[in-house]
Amino acid sequence: MYIRQVKATELAELLQLINSNVIDPVRIADKDYISKLSSEGFLVGKLHEDEIKRMLDRIFLVVTSKQRIIGYLRIDEEIDVDFKELDMQGMVDWVHTDFKKYYYQLPHYEIGGVLVTKEFSRKNIGASLLYKAMEMLKYKNLKYLFSFVPVSPVRNEPSLKFHLKNGFKVIAKLQPLELWGMKHYQSVLLMKESEWV
Ligand SMILES: CC(C)(COP(=O)(O)OP(=O)(O)OC[C@H]1O[C@@H](n2cnc3c(N)ncnc32)[C@H](O)[C@@H]1OP(=O)(O)O)[C@@H](O)C(=O)NCCC(=O)NCCS
Repeated sequence: MYIRQVKATELAELLQLINSNVIDPVRIADKDYISKLSSEGFLVGKLHEDEIKRMLDRIFLVVTSKQRIIGYLRIDEEIDVDFKELDMQGMVDWVHTDFKKYYYQLPHYEIGGVLVTKEFSRKNIGASLLYKAMEMLKYKNLKYLFSFVPVSPVRNEPSLKFHLKNGFKVIAKLQPLELWGMKHYQSVLLMKESEWV
């Protein structure tokens, strides 16, 4: 399995892969749809072509099989301004105040998206993407890696298990709010400490 940075020529394919796995808020009353999402996982928030183009300078790794993208992982380095605003409004319950300090310290790295297609899942591809990204970030002074996972209106069970299996721990819980077209959207923030801290 070969993991590499996405090429500009692959952005349309990657965009299609991402957007076809984004939760559709209109369908959250559909029980079959929800049970599929909670057993296979899902992404949140569709991307536009111009947004993904601007992300090319980030760590944006892909895995291919038979010249098709079957998985990706992106690292974001900016602290989410909306999250910061919610935190200032008291909408974030931190497990410990130290975690808050770590979250806001620079450099900041968080998983902006990770996905492995269903037919290739549970073959260690997600973990390989994660460890490749962490290896690259070692030289950019990575200490802590963060990641948000939704728990409501649908709990992303595969993603939670994937993160916990790979050494992430839950460090904060956001209070439910209206986001991404969903009335009671809620996520948890997870953190993984790098081995070399
Ligand atoms: C989360 C995801 C990236 C994991 O990728 P992966 O390549 O299957 O992960 P790995 O093979 O490295 O790790 C497998 C572990 O992940 C968890 N996991 C993966 N799929 C799972 C599933 N369907 N149900 C429960 N746990 C699952 C388990 O802990 C599993 O370990 P196990 O097989 O020993 O039980 C993948 O399920 C996925 O892309 N889901 C859809 C998109 C998504 O939810 N992204 C995260 C957004 S927050």
